[in-house]
Amino acid sequence: MTAIQGSSVAATQFRSSSAADWTPTSWRGRPALQMPVYPDATVLAGAEARLRRYPPLVFAGEARKLKTALGKVANGEAFLLQGGDCAESFADFSANNIRDMFRVLLQMAVVLTYGAGVPVVKLGRMAGQFAKPRSSNVEKIGGVELPSYRGDNVNGFEFTPAARIPDPERMVQAYNQSAATLNLLRAFAQGGYADLHEVNRWNLDFVRNSPASERYQDLAARLDETLNFMAACGLNSATTPQIAETDFFTSHEALLLQYEEALTRVDSTTGDWYDCSAHMIWIGDRTRQPDGAHVEFLRGVRNPLGFKCGPSLSIDDTLKLIDVLNPDNEAGRIVMIVRMGADKVAEKLPPLVRAVKKAGKSVVWSCDPMHGNTETASNGRKTRNFDNILKEVKEFFAVHRAEGTHAGGVHFEMTGQEVTECIGGATHITVDNLNERYETQCDPRLNASQALELAFLLAEQLKSERLSVKKARSSV
Ligand code: PEP
Ligand code: CO
Repeated sequence: MTAIQGSSVAATQFRSSSAADWTPTSWRGRPALQMPVYPDATVLAGAEARLRRYPPLVFAGEARKLKTALGKVANGEAFLLQGGDCAESFADFSANNIRDMFRVLLQMAVVLTYGAGVPVVKLGRMAGQFAKPRSSNVEKIGGVELPSYRGDNVNGFEFTPAARIPDPERMVQAYNQSAATLNLLRAFAQGGYADLHEVNRWNLDFVRNSPASERYQDLAARLDETLNFMAACGLNSATTPQIAETDFFTSHEALLLQYEEALTRVDSTTGDWYDCSAHMIWIGDRTRQPDGAHVEFLRGVRNPLGFKCGPSLSIDDTLKLIDVLNPDNEAGRIVMIVRMGADKVAEKLPPLVRAVKKAGKSVVWSCDPMHGNTETASNGRKTRNFDNILKEVKEFFAVHRAEGTHAGGVHFEMTGQEVTECIGGATHITVDNLNERYETQCDPRLNASQALELAFLLAEQLKSERLSVKKARSSV
């Protein structure tokens, strides 16, 4: 276990090998988009001071372990699965919700491991995914205009003037919820719940009950046979820790920089700064200005980082961001989370991939097929169509195949519940079903069945690509 200095104030006495001219507060001198304006500076300072005294949520050593695993993804030797809520909420905080999310992510990971034939890095959008960037500063309902909801660690979802005032105490509540969430995730990951045979049984149940049962049955049966064969060889949860346990990491968008700063500490074994609010953090598509506050903050911490790549990202900015955030070209440091939209990715992604490859930069390429495919349904609900999500993933893979680069991972907004927020999938959710269980506080999420279906479809694709590469090699 890596010891962490208790407070970032005391920690400044360490000689850190982090980026030049950087401190945990240097972001404050840069333009900061999408950040709340708190009405009371004293209450804010009080909440920040308390958070600075609180224990770190993760250890630097764990973040380094994730970076090593992501380095393998960057080198084409592993695959990344990142997923979770668009926005975690205080109201939906429960053991069952955490368990169900964790369970579906594990089910997906097992299927993807089988399809990709490489380890799958499991990274939850959990235990800190609260702050939300918004396209508008205000929200209008029935002629009433109020400040937009910005995530439960900033203001309240309820459409009242009082709820929408940014409240710094919410950061403390978000910290406490994240701590309890992480505690349960660690217990599940290491305490026997993640047993591969159990996960396989859940998958067999899913396939049995899915309307698309026939389509997925072959892959599920082969996976089952493989596990039975391993068990017959003596590889079971009693003999093999890899079967009983798993590594599970956490991540969120580092948007609310006061929160991130307060949880940033020096790792006493290396002297480096780590943002101990999560193992991995990313910069959103709206806050990735190379000279902006968010990039300034993230460049100085040594966690693995991501940045979102939307259709407006230029090649120039891409290379600048990579240089600023990863000057040593360390494998596993950067995840480029591509979210172009199903109709744009084939055109927008190849130039980025070529430029990064030509510059010799090591990155993980990951596909977020959610954020470029949001639409408003005829009943006014925000939704996403399963077919567009699948299309973007397929196009993303096709681009990497054509460019000779590794399609390293996927990034989903999803839940372990059977909500009705995205249209389509084998259960044929339509616009008429959206109101039945529309529970998200922000973007529409894949429900548990839709998320698993995507994993099966992706696994089929990964497997056929693997086999065709093998065949091409053996015929040379
Ligand atoms: C998100 O991931 O929830 C998000 C807001 O994404 P983006 O920054 O890509 O719009
Ligand atoms: Co979202």
